[in-house]
Amino acid sequence: MQIEWQIASISEWQGDALIFFAFEQPSEYLPALRSFLGSSGKWLANSRALTDFRGKPSEVAVMYAPDAAQPPRVMLVGLGPAERFETERIRNASAFALRKCSELGIVRPAIPLSALEGFPCENEASGQSPCALDALLRETLAGALAGLHQFNELKTKNSTSPTNIESLELLCTSPPESSLRDIATLARCEVAGIKLARDLTISPANRVTPAFLAQTASRLADRFGFKIQLIDLDTARSMGMGAFAAVAAGSAEPPFFIVLEHTPPGTENDSPLVLIGKGITFDSGGISLKPREKMEDMKQDMAGAAAVLGVFEALGSAGLGKRVVGILPCTENMPGGKAYKPGDVLRSYSGRTIEVISTDAEGRLVLCDALAYAAQRFKPALMVDIATLTGASIVALGRDVAAIMGNREPLVEFIRKIGASVGERFWPLPLWDFFFDGLKSEVADMKNTGDRGAGAIYAAMFLKQFVPDQTPWAHLDIAGTAWTDKDTGFCRKGSTGFGVRTLFSLVRNYGIRAGEWDESR
Ligand code: BES
Ligand code: MN
Ligand code: ZN
Repeated sequence: MQIEWQIASISEWQGDALIFFAFEQPSEYLPALRSFLGSSGKWLANSRALTDFRGKPSEVAVMYAPDAAQPPRVMLVGLGPAERFETERIRNASAFALRKCSELGIVRPAIPLSALEGFPCENEASGQSPCALDALLRETLAGALAGLHQFNELKTKNSTSPTNIESLELLCTSPPESSLRDIATLARCEVAGIKLARDLTISPANRVTPAFLAQTASRLADRFGFKIQLIDLDTARSMGMGAFAAVAAGSAEPPFFIVLEHTPPGTENDSPLVLIGKGITFDSGGISLKPREKMEDMKQDMAGAAAVLGVFEALGSAGLGKRVVGILPCTENMPGGKAYKPGDVLRSYSGRTIEVISTDAEGRLVLCDALAYAAQRFKPALMVDIATLTGASIVALGRDVAAIMGNREPLVEFIRKIGASVGERFWPLPLWDFFFDGLKSEVADMKNTGDRGAGAIYAAMFLKQFVPDQTPWAHLDIAGTAWTDKDTGFCRKGSTGFGVRTLFSLVRNYGIRAGEWDESR
Protein backbone atom coordinates (compact mmCIF):
# COMPACT_ATOMS: atom_id res chain seq x y z
CA MET A 1 0.00 0.00 0.00
CA GLN A 2 1.33 3.40 -1.03
CA ILE A 3 0.83 6.59 0.91
CA GLU A 4 0.01 9.48 -1.39
CA TRP A 5 -0.60 13.15 -0.85
CA GLN A 6 -3.51 14.58 -2.83
CA ILE A 7 -4.15 18.26 -3.11
CA ALA A 8 -7.91 18.19 -3.43
CA SER A 9 -10.96 19.31 -1.56
CA ILE A 10 -13.22 16.65 -0.11
CA SER A 11 -16.03 17.40 -2.54
CA GLU A 12 -13.89 17.11 -5.66
CA TRP A 13 -11.92 14.01 -4.66
CA GLN A 14 -12.60 10.97 -6.84
CA GLY A 15 -11.85 7.86 -4.88
CA ASP A 16 -13.46 4.90 -3.15
CA ALA A 17 -14.00 5.87 0.47
CA LEU A 18 -13.46 8.83 2.77
CA ILE A 19 -12.43 8.06 6.32
CA PHE A 20 -13.42 10.20 9.33
CA PHE A 21 -12.84 9.63 13.03
CA ALA A 22 -15.43 10.16 15.75
CA PHE A 23 -15.55 9.98 19.53
CA GLU A 24 -18.10 7.96 21.44
CA GLN A 25 -21.38 9.86 21.95
CA PRO A 26 -19.83 13.25 21.23
CA SER A 27 -21.65 16.48 21.98
CA GLU A 28 -20.40 17.54 18.58
CA TYR A 29 -18.38 15.79 15.87
CA LEU A 30 -14.75 16.64 15.11
CA PRO A 31 -14.39 19.71 12.83
CA ALA A 32 -13.69 17.91 9.53
CA LEU A 33 -16.71 15.64 9.83
CA ARG A 34 -18.87 18.54 11.03
CA SER A 35 -18.01 20.61 8.00
CA PHE A 36 -18.51 17.63 5.67
CA LEU A 37 -21.99 17.03 7.13
CA GLY A 38 -22.82 20.66 6.52
CA SER A 39 -21.65 20.68 2.89
CA SER A 40 -21.17 17.85 0.40
CA GLY A 41 -22.12 15.28 3.05
CA LYS A 42 -25.63 16.56 3.73
CA TRP A 43 -26.99 13.19 2.66
CA LEU A 44 -25.17 11.63 5.61
CA ALA A 45 -26.32 14.24 8.11
CA ASN A 46 -29.91 13.12 7.52
CA SER A 47 -29.16 9.42 7.59
CA ARG A 48 -30.13 6.92 10.27
CA ALA A 49 -26.73 5.31 9.73
CA LEU A 50 -25.11 8.29 11.38
CA THR A 51 -27.22 8.13 14.53
CA ASP A 52 -26.73 4.37 14.79
CA PHE A 53 -22.95 4.81 14.89
CA ARG A 54 -21.75 4.76 18.52
CA GLY A 55 -18.08 5.63 18.14
CA LYS A 56 -16.82 2.75 20.26
CA PRO A 57 -13.16 1.80 19.86
CA SER A 58 -12.77 -0.63 16.91
CA GLU A 59 -16.24 0.30 15.56
CA VAL A 60 -16.21 0.97 11.82
CA ALA A 61 -19.36 1.97 9.93
CA VAL A 62 -19.57 2.20 6.17
CA MET A 63 -22.14 4.59 4.71
CA TYR A 64 -23.10 4.73 1.04
CA ALA A 65 -23.73 7.95 -0.79
CA PRO A 66 -26.94 8.21 -2.84
CA ASP A 67 -26.93 8.29 -6.64
CA ALA A 68 -23.75 9.48 -8.22
CA ALA A 69 -22.51 11.52 -5.27
CA GLN A 70 -18.74 11.49 -4.82
CA PRO A 71 -17.07 9.83 -3.02
CA PRO A 72 -19.33 6.78 -2.98
CA ARG A 73 -18.57 5.76 0.60
CA VAL A 74 -17.87 7.39 3.92
CA MET A 75 -16.30 5.43 6.73
CA LEU A 76 -16.73 6.46 10.32
CA VAL A 77 -14.26 5.03 12.77
CA GLY A 78 -14.77 5.02 16.53
CA LEU A 79 -12.23 6.45 18.96
CA GLY A 80 -13.98 5.74 22.27
CA PRO A 81 -14.72 8.51 24.79
CA ALA A 82 -13.00 11.86 24.20
CA GLU A 83 -12.00 12.14 27.89
CA ARG A 84 -9.93 8.99 27.59
CA PHE A 85 -8.23 9.85 24.34
CA GLU A 86 -4.59 8.94 23.75
CA THR A 87 -2.80 8.75 20.40
CA GLU A 88 -2.90 4.96 20.63
CA ARG A 89 -6.64 5.19 19.94
CA ILE A 90 -6.23 6.79 16.56
CA ARG A 91 -3.51 4.30 15.68
CA ASN A 92 -5.86 1.40 16.34
CA ALA A 93 -8.87 3.13 14.75
CA SER A 94 -6.91 3.75 11.59
CA ALA A 95 -5.86 0.09 11.53
CA PHE A 96 -9.47 -1.12 11.82
CA ALA A 97 -10.56 1.27 9.05
CA LEU A 98 -7.90 0.03 6.65
CA ARG A 99 -8.70 -3.59 7.43
CA LYS A 100 -12.34 -2.86 6.60
CA CYS A 101 -11.26 -1.37 3.28
CA SER A 102 -9.26 -4.46 2.56
CA GLU A 103 -12.22 -6.73 3.37
CA LEU A 104 -14.55 -4.72 1.14
CA GLY A 105 -12.13 -4.55 -1.77
CA ILE A 106 -11.71 -0.80 -1.49
CA VAL A 107 -8.46 0.04 -3.24
CA ARG A 108 -8.32 3.85 -2.94
CA PRO A 109 -9.42 5.11 0.47
CA ALA A 110 -8.54 8.57 1.73
CA ILE A 111 -8.15 10.36 5.02
CA PRO A 112 -8.56 14.13 4.88
CA LEU A 113 -5.70 15.72 6.82
CA SER A 114 -8.31 17.97 8.39
CA ALA A 115 -9.80 14.84 10.01
CA LEU A 116 -6.80 14.95 12.38
CA GLU A 117 -7.69 18.40 13.70
CA GLY A 118 -9.51 19.34 16.88
CA PHE A 119 -8.33 16.47 19.05
CA PRO A 120 -8.20 17.00 22.81
CA CYS A 121 -4.92 16.59 24.65
CA GLU A 122 -3.97 13.25 26.09
CA ASN A 123 -4.27 12.63 29.79
CA GLU A 124 -0.71 11.43 30.16
CA ALA A 125 2.01 14.04 29.85
CA SER A 126 4.18 12.31 27.29
CA GLY A 127 7.03 14.67 26.70
CA GLN A 128 5.88 15.70 23.23
CA SER A 129 2.82 17.78 22.49
CA PRO A 130 0.37 14.93 22.15
CA CYS A 131 -2.43 16.33 20.04
CA ALA A 132 -0.11 17.99 17.57
CA LEU A 133 -0.94 17.13 13.99
CA ASP A 134 2.40 15.39 13.42
CA ALA A 135 1.89 12.92 16.29
CA LEU A 136 -1.64 12.14 15.09
CA LEU A 137 -0.48 11.67 11.52
CA ARG A 138 2.39 9.45 12.62
CA GLU A 139 0.07 7.22 14.65
CA THR A 140 -2.56 7.12 11.91
CA LEU A 141 -0.01 5.92 9.38
CA ALA A 142 1.65 3.49 11.77
CA GLY A 143 -1.76 1.96 12.47
CA ALA A 144 -2.75 1.84 8.81
CA LEU A 145 0.47 0.16 7.73
CA ALA A 146 1.10 -2.18 10.67
CA GLY A 147 -2.53 -3.10 11.26
CA LEU A 148 -2.82 -4.74 7.85
CA HIS A 149 0.20 -6.91 8.46
CA GLN A 150 -0.28 -10.64 8.87
CA PHE A 151 2.15 -13.55 8.88
CA ASN A 152 0.92 -16.05 6.28
CA GLU A 153 4.13 -17.51 4.98
CA LEU A 154 3.54 -20.95 6.44
CA LYS A 155 -0.06 -21.35 5.29
CA THR A 156 -0.40 -23.26 2.06
CA LYS A 157 -3.81 -21.94 1.12
CA ASN A 158 -4.83 -18.38 1.62
CA SER A 159 -8.31 -18.85 3.06
CA THR A 160 -8.77 -15.15 3.66
CA SER A 161 -6.94 -13.34 0.92
CA PRO A 162 -8.03 -9.74 1.39
CA THR A 163 -7.67 -7.26 -1.42
CA ASN A 164 -4.52 -5.23 -1.63
CA ILE A 165 -5.19 -1.58 -1.05
CA GLU A 166 -3.33 0.35 -3.73
CA SER A 167 -2.88 3.58 -1.89
CA LEU A 168 -4.01 5.45 1.15
CA GLU A 169 -4.46 9.04 0.09
CA LEU A 170 -3.98 11.97 2.40
CA LEU A 171 -6.18 14.82 1.27
CA CYS A 172 -5.08 18.36 1.87
CA THR A 173 -6.10 21.67 0.43
CA SER A 174 -2.56 23.01 -0.01
CA PRO A 175 0.80 21.24 -0.44
CA PRO A 176 1.84 19.67 2.88
CA GLU A 177 4.83 20.97 4.80
CA SER A 178 7.97 18.94 4.33
CA SER A 179 7.85 17.90 7.99
CA LEU A 180 4.56 16.12 7.32
CA ARG A 181 6.00 14.36 4.30
CA ASP A 182 8.94 13.27 6.44
CA ILE A 183 6.55 11.75 8.95
CA ALA A 184 5.00 9.63 6.23
CA THR A 185 8.42 8.44 5.08
CA LEU A 186 9.54 7.65 8.61
CA ALA A 187 6.32 5.77 9.36
CA ARG A 188 6.96 3.53 6.38
CA CYS A 189 10.54 2.79 7.49
CA GLU A 190 9.47 2.19 11.07
CA VAL A 191 6.67 -0.18 10.11
CA ALA A 192 9.03 -2.15 7.87
CA GLY A 193 11.06 -2.72 11.02
CA ILE A 194 8.02 -3.66 13.08
CA LYS A 195 6.92 -6.18 10.44
CA LEU A 196 10.34 -7.77 10.34
CA ALA A 197 10.41 -8.08 14.14
CA ARG A 198 6.88 -9.53 14.23
CA ASP A 199 7.58 -12.07 11.48
CA LEU A 200 10.77 -13.28 13.10
CA THR A 201 9.13 -13.59 16.51
CA ILE A 202 5.97 -15.39 15.41
CA SER A 203 7.95 -17.80 13.22
CA PRO A 204 8.56 -21.22 14.74
CA ALA A 205 11.92 -22.21 16.16
CA ASN A 206 12.55 -24.77 13.41
CA ARG A 207 12.58 -21.89 10.94
CA VAL A 208 14.03 -19.04 12.96
CA THR A 209 17.22 -20.68 14.21
CA PRO A 210 20.33 -18.73 15.21
CA ALA A 211 21.58 -19.33 11.65
CA PHE A 212 18.36 -17.82 10.28
CA LEU A 213 18.86 -14.71 12.41
CA ALA A 214 22.46 -14.52 11.20
CA GLN A 215 21.23 -14.74 7.61
CA THR A 216 18.60 -12.06 8.25
CA ALA A 217 21.26 -9.78 9.70
CA SER A 218 23.54 -10.47 6.71
CA ARG A 219 20.76 -9.57 4.30
CA LEU A 220 20.24 -6.27 6.10
CA ALA A 221 23.99 -5.66 5.98
CA ASP A 222 24.02 -6.28 2.21
CA ARG A 223 21.02 -4.08 1.57
CA PHE A 224 22.06 -1.11 3.68
CA GLY A 225 25.84 -1.38 3.80
CA PHE A 226 26.13 -2.31 7.48
CA LYS A 227 29.27 -4.01 8.68
CA ILE A 228 28.60 -7.48 10.04
CA GLN A 229 30.52 -10.03 12.03
CA LEU A 230 29.20 -13.52 12.80
CA ILE A 231 30.99 -15.12 15.72
CA ASP A 232 30.55 -18.90 15.89
CA LEU A 233 30.71 -21.15 18.94
CA ASP A 234 34.41 -22.02 18.80
CA THR A 235 35.40 -18.42 18.29
CA ALA A 236 33.09 -17.21 21.07
CA ARG A 237 34.62 -19.79 23.39
CA SER A 238 38.17 -18.83 22.47
CA MET A 239 37.32 -15.17 22.98
CA GLY A 240 36.28 -16.02 26.53
CA MET A 241 32.49 -15.85 26.19
CA GLY A 242 32.04 -18.70 28.64
CA ALA A 243 28.49 -17.82 29.65
CA PHE A 244 27.18 -17.55 26.08
CA ALA A 245 29.00 -20.76 25.10
CA ALA A 246 27.57 -22.66 28.09
CA VAL A 247 23.98 -21.85 27.12
CA ALA A 248 24.67 -22.97 23.55
CA ALA A 249 26.27 -26.25 24.62
CA GLY A 250 23.04 -28.24 25.00
CA SER A 251 21.75 -27.52 21.50
CA ALA A 252 22.50 -29.11 18.13
CA GLU A 253 21.79 -25.82 16.34
CA PRO A 254 24.96 -23.80 15.83
CA PRO A 255 24.77 -20.52 17.79
CA PHE A 256 25.80 -17.12 16.45
CA PHE A 257 26.95 -14.04 18.26
CA ILE A 258 26.06 -11.34 15.75
CA VAL A 259 27.60 -7.86 15.60
CA LEU A 260 25.95 -5.40 13.18
CA GLU A 261 27.41 -1.95 12.70
CA HIS A 262 25.91 1.11 11.08
CA THR A 263 28.64 3.70 10.80
CA PRO A 264 27.59 6.38 8.28
CA PRO A 265 30.44 8.38 6.73
CA GLY A 266 31.78 10.95 9.16
CA THR A 267 30.65 9.10 12.31
CA GLU A 268 33.65 6.76 12.51
CA ASN A 269 34.95 8.51 15.61
CA ASP A 270 31.61 8.85 17.40
CA SER A 271 30.91 6.64 20.38
CA PRO A 272 28.05 4.48 19.15
CA LEU A 273 24.68 3.77 20.58
CA VAL A 274 24.70 0.03 21.21
CA LEU A 275 21.51 -2.05 21.12
CA ILE A 276 21.70 -5.58 22.50
CA GLY A 277 18.89 -8.10 21.91
CA LYS A 278 18.34 -11.46 23.57
CA GLY A 279 18.21 -14.07 20.81
CA ILE A 280 17.16 -17.36 22.39
CA THR A 281 15.41 -18.94 19.40
CA PHE A 282 13.86 -21.56 21.67
CA ASP A 283 13.93 -21.67 25.45
CA SER A 284 13.16 -25.17 26.72
CA GLY A 285 14.66 -24.20 30.06
CA GLY A 286 17.58 -26.57 29.46
CA ILE A 287 18.26 -29.13 32.20
CA SER A 288 16.01 -26.99 34.46
CA LEU A 289 13.32 -27.98 31.96
CA LYS A 290 10.16 -25.91 31.70
CA PRO A 291 6.75 -27.52 32.25
CA ARG A 292 5.06 -28.71 29.04
CA GLU A 293 2.14 -26.27 29.19
CA LYS A 294 2.67 -23.39 26.78
CA MET A 295 6.24 -24.39 26.09
CA GLU A 296 5.53 -23.65 22.43
CA ASP A 297 5.38 -19.96 23.39
CA MET A 298 9.12 -20.04 24.02
CA LYS A 299 9.77 -19.61 20.31
CA GLN A 300 9.26 -15.92 21.12
CA ASP A 301 12.36 -15.76 23.31
CA MET A 302 14.29 -14.00 20.55
CA ALA A 303 11.91 -11.04 20.45
CA GLY A 304 14.66 -8.76 21.77
CA ALA A 305 17.01 -9.72 18.93
CA ALA A 306 14.10 -9.36 16.48
CA ALA A 307 13.39 -5.84 17.78
CA VAL A 308 17.03 -4.84 17.27
CA LEU A 309 16.96 -6.23 13.72
CA GLY A 310 13.73 -4.30 13.21
CA VAL A 311 15.44 -1.09 14.31
CA PHE A 312 18.27 -1.76 11.84
CA GLU A 313 15.75 -2.32 9.05
CA ALA A 314 14.13 1.01 9.97
CA LEU A 315 17.33 3.00 10.29
CA GLY A 316 18.73 1.48 7.12
CA SER A 317 15.63 2.38 5.10
CA ALA A 318 15.52 5.84 6.64
CA GLY A 319 19.23 6.37 5.98
CA LEU A 320 19.79 7.68 9.49
CA GLY A 321 23.13 9.40 9.97
CA LYS A 322 24.00 8.06 13.41
CA ARG A 323 26.45 5.42 14.48
CA VAL A 324 24.54 2.43 15.90
CA VAL A 325 25.79 -1.02 16.79
CA GLY A 326 23.55 -4.07 17.26
CA ILE A 327 24.69 -7.08 19.24
CA LEU A 328 22.64 -10.27 19.13
CA PRO A 329 23.71 -13.29 21.14
CA CYS A 330 21.67 -16.03 19.44
CA THR A 331 21.31 -19.64 20.53
CA GLU A 332 18.77 -22.23 21.59
CA ASN A 333 18.55 -23.25 25.23
CA MET A 334 18.26 -27.07 25.14
CA PRO A 335 18.90 -30.00 27.48
CA GLY A 336 21.24 -32.00 25.20
CA GLY A 337 23.94 -34.36 26.48
CA LYS A 338 26.52 -31.59 26.48
CA ALA A 339 24.20 -29.13 28.16
CA TYR A 340 25.38 -26.98 31.05
CA LYS A 341 24.00 -28.02 34.42
CA PRO A 342 22.77 -26.47 37.64
CA GLY A 343 25.79 -26.10 39.91
CA ASP A 344 28.23 -25.50 37.04
CA VAL A 345 30.49 -22.49 37.42
CA LEU A 346 31.04 -20.44 34.27
CA ARG A 347 33.73 -17.91 33.47
CA SER A 348 32.11 -14.98 31.68
CA TYR A 349 33.72 -12.68 29.10
CA SER A 350 34.28 -10.09 31.84
CA GLY A 351 36.34 -12.62 33.81
CA ARG A 352 33.72 -12.78 36.56
CA THR A 353 32.57 -16.30 37.53
CA ILE A 354 28.94 -17.36 37.73
CA GLU A 355 27.36 -20.26 39.58
CA VAL A 356 24.44 -21.64 37.60
CA ILE A 357 21.44 -22.24 39.84
CA SER A 358 18.91 -22.54 37.04
CA THR A 359 19.71 -23.26 33.41
CA ASP A 360 16.38 -21.57 32.69
CA ALA A 361 17.89 -18.21 33.66
CA GLU A 362 19.81 -18.36 30.38
CA GLY A 363 18.92 -14.96 28.96
CA ARG A 364 21.04 -13.07 31.46
CA LEU A 365 23.94 -15.42 30.71
CA VAL A 366 24.02 -14.67 27.00
CA LEU A 367 23.40 -10.99 27.70
CA CYS A 368 26.16 -10.64 30.29
CA ASP A 369 28.77 -11.60 27.73
CA ALA A 370 27.19 -9.29 25.17
CA LEU A 371 27.14 -6.35 27.60
CA ALA A 372 30.75 -6.85 28.71
CA TYR A 373 31.93 -7.30 25.12
CA ALA A 374 30.02 -4.25 23.88
CA ALA A 375 31.30 -2.02 26.69
CA GLN A 376 34.89 -3.10 26.15
CA ARG A 377 34.99 -3.04 22.37
CA PHE A 378 32.76 -0.08 21.52
CA LYS A 379 32.96 2.28 24.52
CA PRO A 380 29.29 3.09 23.88
CA ALA A 381 27.79 6.51 24.44
CA LEU A 382 24.73 4.57 25.49
CA MET A 383 23.91 0.89 25.74
CA VAL A 384 20.38 -0.51 25.80
CA ASP A 385 19.49 -4.18 26.06
CA ILE A 386 16.07 -5.56 25.21
CA ALA A 387 15.00 -9.05 26.26
CA THR A 388 12.10 -11.35 27.04
CA LEU A 389 13.95 -11.89 30.28
CA THR A 390 11.63 -12.80 33.15
CA GLY A 391 8.18 -14.20 33.82
CA ALA A 392 8.43 -12.08 36.97
CA SER A 393 8.15 -8.87 34.91
CA ILE A 394 4.76 -10.15 33.71
CA VAL A 395 3.70 -10.81 37.30
CA ALA A 396 4.78 -7.29 38.25
CA LEU A 397 3.42 -5.25 35.33
CA GLY A 398 1.16 -7.47 33.23
CA ARG A 399 1.14 -7.83 29.47
CA ASP A 400 0.78 -4.22 28.41
CA VAL A 401 3.71 -2.69 30.26
CA ALA A 402 7.39 -3.50 29.95
CA ALA A 403 9.85 -3.12 32.81
CA ILE A 404 12.71 -0.65 32.50
CA MET A 405 15.78 -0.40 34.70
CA GLY A 406 19.21 1.11 34.29
CA ASN A 407 22.18 2.81 35.88
CA ARG A 408 21.06 6.44 35.30
CA GLU A 409 17.63 7.54 36.50
CA PRO A 410 17.27 10.40 33.99
CA LEU A 411 18.08 7.98 31.18
CA VAL A 412 15.37 5.58 32.35
CA GLU A 413 12.92 8.49 32.44
CA PHE A 414 14.05 9.67 28.99
CA ILE A 415 13.33 6.27 27.45
CA ARG A 416 10.08 5.88 29.37
CA LYS A 417 8.83 9.15 27.88
CA ILE A 418 9.91 8.25 24.36
CA GLY A 419 8.03 4.97 24.75
CA ALA A 420 4.91 6.76 26.00
CA SER A 421 4.94 9.06 22.98
CA VAL A 422 4.76 6.09 20.58
CA GLY A 423 2.31 3.94 22.53
CA GLU A 424 4.87 1.62 24.14
CA ARG A 425 4.52 1.63 27.92
CA PHE A 426 7.53 1.19 30.19
CA TRP A 427 7.57 1.42 33.94
CA PRO A 428 10.67 1.53 36.15
CA LEU A 429 11.53 -0.98 38.87
CA PRO A 430 14.16 -0.07 41.48
CA LEU A 431 17.69 -1.34 41.04
CA TRP A 432 19.13 -0.64 44.47
CA ASP A 433 22.56 -2.03 45.27
CA PHE A 434 21.39 -4.16 48.21
CA PHE A 435 19.64 -6.46 45.71
CA PHE A 436 23.06 -7.87 44.91
CA ASP A 437 23.03 -9.62 48.33
CA GLY A 438 20.51 -12.04 46.89
CA LEU A 439 22.93 -13.04 44.12
CA LYS A 440 25.88 -13.91 46.38
CA SER A 441 27.35 -17.36 45.82
CA GLU A 442 29.43 -19.63 48.06
CA VAL A 443 31.62 -20.86 45.22
CA ALA A 444 31.67 -18.14 42.55
CA ASP A 445 31.42 -14.36 42.18
CA MET A 446 27.65 -14.56 41.85
CA LYS A 447 24.70 -16.87 41.19
CA ASN A 448 22.52 -16.56 38.09
CA THR A 449 19.26 -16.36 40.08
CA GLY A 450 18.22 -14.42 43.16
CA ASP A 451 16.15 -15.07 46.25
CA ARG A 452 12.41 -15.53 46.05
CA GLY A 453 10.46 -12.64 44.58
CA ALA A 454 11.65 -9.56 42.70
CA GLY A 455 12.70 -11.79 39.79
CA ALA A 456 12.78 -9.02 37.21
CA ILE A 457 15.01 -6.93 39.47
CA TYR A 458 17.44 -9.76 40.22
CA ALA A 459 17.82 -10.40 36.50
CA ALA A 460 18.62 -6.72 35.92
CA MET A 461 20.91 -6.63 38.97
CA PHE A 462 22.79 -9.57 37.52
CA LEU A 463 23.21 -7.72 34.19
CA LYS A 464 24.34 -4.56 35.99
CA GLN A 465 27.44 -6.41 37.23
CA PHE A 466 28.68 -6.54 33.64
CA VAL A 467 28.18 -2.88 32.79
CA PRO A 468 31.03 -0.51 33.68
CA ASP A 469 29.77 2.39 35.84
CA GLN A 470 30.86 4.95 33.28
CA THR A 471 28.69 3.38 30.56
CA PRO A 472 25.12 4.70 30.55
CA TRP A 473 22.87 1.64 30.32
CA ALA A 474 19.20 0.75 30.28
CA HIS A 475 17.56 -2.65 30.33
CA LEU A 476 14.12 -3.33 28.83
CA ASP A 477 12.33 -6.49 29.96
CA ILE A 478 9.70 -7.19 27.30
CA ALA A 479 8.64 -10.71 28.41
CA GLY A 480 5.03 -9.50 28.77
CA THR A 481 4.76 -7.16 25.81
CA ALA A 482 6.45 -9.12 23.00
CA TRP A 483 3.27 -11.13 22.52
CA THR A 484 -0.43 -10.28 22.61
CA ASP A 485 -3.42 -12.54 23.07
CA LYS A 486 -5.82 -9.85 21.93
CA ASP A 487 -6.08 -8.09 18.60
CA THR A 488 -5.54 -4.37 19.20
CA GLY A 489 -5.98 -3.24 15.60
CA PHE A 490 -2.41 -2.02 15.37
CA CYS A 491 -1.38 -5.57 16.13
CA ARG A 492 -3.15 -8.87 15.54
CA LYS A 493 -2.86 -11.76 17.98
CA GLY A 494 0.72 -12.94 18.25
CA SER A 495 4.01 -11.11 18.13
CA THR A 496 3.89 -7.34 18.58
CA GLY A 497 7.29 -6.03 17.47
CA PHE A 498 7.33 -4.18 20.80
CA GLY A 499 10.42 -2.07 21.30
CA VAL A 500 11.11 -1.24 17.65
CA ARG A 501 9.27 2.06 17.88
CA THR A 502 10.85 3.15 21.15
CA LEU A 503 14.37 2.22 20.09
CA PHE A 504 14.02 3.72 16.62
CA SER A 505 12.70 6.87 18.21
CA LEU A 506 15.54 6.79 20.75
CA VAL A 507 18.10 6.51 17.96
CA ARG A 508 16.51 9.43 16.15
CA ASN A 509 16.19 11.64 19.24
CA TYR A 510 19.57 10.84 20.60
CA GLY A 511 22.17 13.43 19.79
CA ILE A 512 25.50 11.59 20.20
CA ARG A 513 26.61 14.07 22.92
CA ALA A 514 26.69 12.21 26.21
CA GLY A 515 24.20 13.41 28.79
CA GLU A 516 21.60 14.12 26.10
CA TRP A 517 18.87 12.82 28.37
CA ASP A 518 19.77 15.22 31.19
CA GLU A 519 16.70 16.75 32.73
CA SER A 520 18.37 20.15 32.28
CA ARG A 521 18.01 19.81 28.52
N1 BES B 1 12.43 -16.69 28.53
C1 BES B 1 12.12 -16.77 29.91
C2 BES B 1 11.22 -15.62 30.38
C3 BES B 1 9.86 -15.51 29.75
C4 BES B 1 8.74 -16.00 30.38
C5 BES B 1 9.70 -14.87 28.53
C6 BES B 1 7.50 -15.88 29.81
C7 BES B 1 8.45 -14.73 27.95
C8 BES B 1 7.34 -15.23 28.60
C9 BES B 1 13.40 -16.75 30.73
O1 BES B 1 14.51 -17.31 30.13
C10 BES B 1 13.14 -17.55 31.95
O2 BES B 1 12.95 -18.73 31.84
N2 BES B 1 13.15 -16.89 33.11
C11 BES B 1 12.91 -17.53 34.35
C12 BES B 1 13.97 -17.05 35.34
C13 BES B 1 14.04 -17.85 36.59
C14 BES B 1 14.56 -19.25 36.30
C15 BES B 1 14.95 -17.14 37.56
C16 BES B 1 11.51 -17.15 34.81
O3 BES B 1 11.10 -16.02 34.57
O4 BES B 1 10.85 -17.98 35.39
MN1 MN C 1 14.64 -19.40 30.42
ZN1 ZN D 1 14.54 -17.29 28.12
